[in-house]
Amino acid sequence: MEAILLGSAAGGGVPQWNCRCTICRLAWTRDPRVRWRTQSSLAVSTDGARWVVINASPDLRQQIADTPELTPHEGLRHSPITSVVLSNGDVDHVAGLLTLRERQPLALYASEAVLGLIEANPIFRVLDQALVTRRAVRLGDPFVPLDGMTVTLFAVPGKVPLWQEGVATAGGTDGSTVGLDISAGGRRIVSIPGCAAVDSAVLARLEGADVLFFDGTLWHDDELMAEGVGVKTGLRMGHISMAGERGSIAALRDVAVARRVFVHINNTNPVLIDGSPEHREAERAGWEIGYDGWRASL
Ligand code: MLT
Ligand code: MN
Ligand code: ZN
Repeated sequence: MEAILLGSAAGGGVPQWNCRCTICRLAWTRDPRVRWRTQSSLAVSTDGARWVVINASPDLRQQIADTPELTPHEGLRHSPITSVVLSNGDVDHVAGLLTLRERQPLALYASEAVLGLIEANPIFRVLDQALVTRRAVRLGDPFVPLDGMTVTLFAVPGKVPLWQEGVATAGGTDGSTVGLDISAGGRRIVSIPGCAAVDSAVLARLEGADVLFFDGTLWHDDELMAEGVGVKTGLRMGHISMAGERGSIAALRDVAVARRVFVHINNTNPVLIDGSPEHREAERAGWEIGYDGWRASL
């Protein structure tokens, strides 16, 4: 199985268009310690020719342009991307669907809760129903997006998208936020770009994975407030933070995964500064800090 991390940042990217927080300022001034990062997306393949894109970020066009494996290279109209799977309905995970218009056959897989959001929003009709087949997936039921690849969606603690708050009341573990358990050729990748808490069901899913991609939004729960760029805690946003006794680094310490990679990293998170104490602490705990173009061949 092949994996390419197309985008390693949370909503907004690094730097975010209107932000001058500590890390965005470093990025704007091209400080070599802070890589620019696009918004959250991952591509997986069994043969390097056909790819499943996990989450369609607003930066998808740039991500395709930056990734030779994903550019068209046959006939008049072509894409190596054969399907898209969504892990939630957040803007940073669905807005890129609009980039995939222009009559390209695709399959779109998501939980009923997430697909329902797409169906309810008429702008997504630009993806012609006759060509882009919507497939509502039941949690726990494996599906086959590519020959030789099996994907199972499982609920993780989370919440409805920001833009649905006050409209929908659902949240928790109803399928509005899911993780993906991806198997091919005897290898397993687990991708959980958004997660509010590590419970026993999440832990059980990770066991034995070759690669884990995990929600790395924040270092500290109150980081947005401390930087003066927001009033919400991580938990309020549906994201567990990395640090502390209740953080993801501690919660996942004993789980048996070969490689663990933080993704969906917010521009306030000090792990984004290469060599920072937080970056070094995460690496000492066995974590890789995901970056755009990170690749693995399993
Ligand atoms: C999140 O991950 O919490 C969302 O992407 C936030 C947002 O939609 O801006
Ligand atoms: Mn997000
Ligand atoms: Zn910022």
